[in-house]
Amino acid sequence: MSEFFRGRRLRMTPHLRAMVRETDLRPQDLIMPYFVLDTEEKGVSRPVASLPGQAQLSLDMLEERVARAADHGLGAVILFGLPKEKDPVGSGAYADNGIIQKAARRLKARHGKDLTVITDVCLCEYTSHGHCGLISQEGEVLNDPTLELLARTALSHAQAGADMVAPSDMMDGRVAAIREALDDNGFVNLPIMSYAVKYASAFYGPFREAAGSAPKSGDRKSYQMDPANRREAMLEAGADIQEGADILIIKPAGPYLDIIREARAAFDLPLTAYQVSGEYAMIKAAGQNGWIDERAAAMETLLGIKRAGADLLINYFSEELLKEGLIR
Ligand code: PBG
Repeated sequence: MSEFFRGRRLRMTPHLRAMVRETDLRPQDLIMPYFVLDTEEKGVSRPVASLPGQAQLSLDMLEERVARAADHGLGAVILFGLPKEKDPVGSGAYADNGIIQKAARRLKARHGKDLTVITDVCLCEYTSHGHCGLISQEGEVLNDPTLELLARTALSHAQAGADMVAPSDMMDGRVAAIREALDDNGFVNLPIMSYAVKYASAFYGPFREAAGSAPKSGDRKSYQMDPANRREAMLEAGADIQEGADILIIKPAGPYLDIIREARAAFDLPLTAYQVSGEYAMIKAAGQNGWIDERAAAMETLLGIKRAGADLLINYFSEELLKEGLIR
C-alpha cells in the first residue's frame, strides 16, 4: 500500500514541522543598513520615498533608532553616510570628522561590544561625480590611484571604532590595500567583509535616492559585474579571499541565488547576501497595495537566501521583523 512517498506525515502539526525545519532565521544573522546625514540640526529623519520605512537620519536620530532596534535584538548595523559637501576626490569619506566616523564613535560609545558596527567603504556618496573611485578627465574610473583613498577611508573608520569594514567600490586590489593599511596601524584583528561579488544591478535605484549617490554621468558597468556572469563571480570571490577578505558579500541576493549556492559550495568563508533596496522596495510596494502579505513575503525571501547558502543577511526588514518577534 505504501508505494508512494507520504511527505505530509511530517507536516501535520506546527511542532512536527518545526522539528524537521532545515533553515532558521536568527537575530544574529541580521545586519540592518542605516543612512546617516551630516547636519547640525537635531531630530532629522527624512523619509526616503522609494524606501518606505527608511530615512536619512541625523546623528541623534540614528542613535535613538539603533538603540530601539538593539532593544529588540538587533546586533549589527551597516552605515552609509551623506556628507555635507562633496568633491572630486571624495574627501568626506576619509575625513576624521566625516559623518561615518562620527556615527561609529557615537554608536560604539553607547553600545560597546553589544553592537557590531560595520561601515561601508566607498567613495560614491562623497564624490561630486558620484563614481566609486577617482575619474580621469575623460571620465574613466581609475583603479590604482583609488586604492590609497579606500585604504585611508577604511583606516579612519577603524580609528573611529568600527568593528568591521565593508568595501563596496569594486576596484581591483582594494582588499589587499585595506588589509595592509589596517595591519600597519595595529588593526590586525579587524575583519574585512568585502563586497566580493557585486553586480551592476538595476535594483540599487532606491539606495541611490537614499544615499544621494547616483553617478552624474555614465554607469557603473566598468567596475561592477555583468549580471550575465557566473564563473566570473567565483574568480572575484577567490581573488578577495587571497587578498585577505574574512567574509564575502554577494549582492543583490534574490536574483542571484545560484551564485550564493555556488559560492557556498566553493568557499568555506562566511557568506553574506545583501537583499538590496530594489528588492525591499518591490515587496513593500506590493504589500502596500494589498497585493501580497508583506511580512510573509519578506520572511520567505530571506529564508530562501539563507537556504541557498548565505550565513548573514544585510536587509532593510531587519528592524521590523525583530520588533514584531518574527525573528527571535
Ligand atoms: C555603494 C553601495 C551601493 C549599494 C551599497 N553600497 C550602491 C551602488 O553601488 O550604486 C546598494 C545597496 C542597495 O541598493 O540597497 N557603492
